[in-house]
Amino acid sequence: MDEKIKKLLVKLEDLNQQGGQWNIDHQTGQFLHDLILKHKPEIIVEIGASNGYSTIWLAMAAKEINAKVITYEFVPDKVRDLVANLQKAQLIQYITIIPDNANKRLTELNKTIDFVFLDGRKNEYLQQLKLLEPKLNQGSLIVADNAISHKHVMNDYLYYVRNEKTYKSKLKDIGTGLEITEKL
Ligand SMILES: C[S@@+](CC[C@H](N)C(=O)[O-])C[C@H]1O[C@@H](n2cnc3c(N)ncnc32)[C@H](O)[C@@H]1O
Repeated sequence: MDEKIKKLLVKLEDLNQQGGQWNIDHQTGQFLHDLILKHKPEIIVEIGASNGYSTIWLAMAAKEINAKVITYEFVPDKVRDLVANLQKAQLIQYITIIPDNANKRLTELNKTIDFVFLDGRKNEYLQQLKLLEPKLNQGSLIVADNAISHKHVMNDYLYYVRNEKTYKSKLKDIGTGLEITEKL
């Protein structure tokens, strides 16, 4: 990994320790990065970028496989930090930032999607998945964070992806828990 990105990730991990960012941890970032390299999506969608810690991991993978990341973040201060951090990492060219509410803007997405990382409000995951469903390619992966720490808040989502015949879903006990769902 590039030295300046390594240093930036450590800085953001220290900041996260102080609270308020709700970033994934380093191990989860590495896992997402490796999953993307294995799966080779062309278009990656992230909902809930915060200051861009997870987005940096997604963008590092996107750079390696020539993919694109579209990320949604609706808090202006977070968007400012997100842009600054992606510029520092020199990864901004792999990202399209939509500085708005994903629930309002997802329908405008005129691309098919191969990989989704859900990390906004946990009680909105199901609504967001349903908005994305018409755009998901067969074999798409949808990774939902906090599937252990917030499993009660995302009960409807977990029930849906685990019971719908069009999905195969499993829980990965890493970080705060990742529900990894494949569209069949
Ligand atoms: C858990 S934090 C994201 C952390 C980030 N993924 C990371 O690991 O570095 C959730 C973020 O989602 C944003 N968010 C929540 N609901 C959203 C929505 N509907 N559209 C856009 N952003 C949203 C919040 O403002 C917050 O910054």
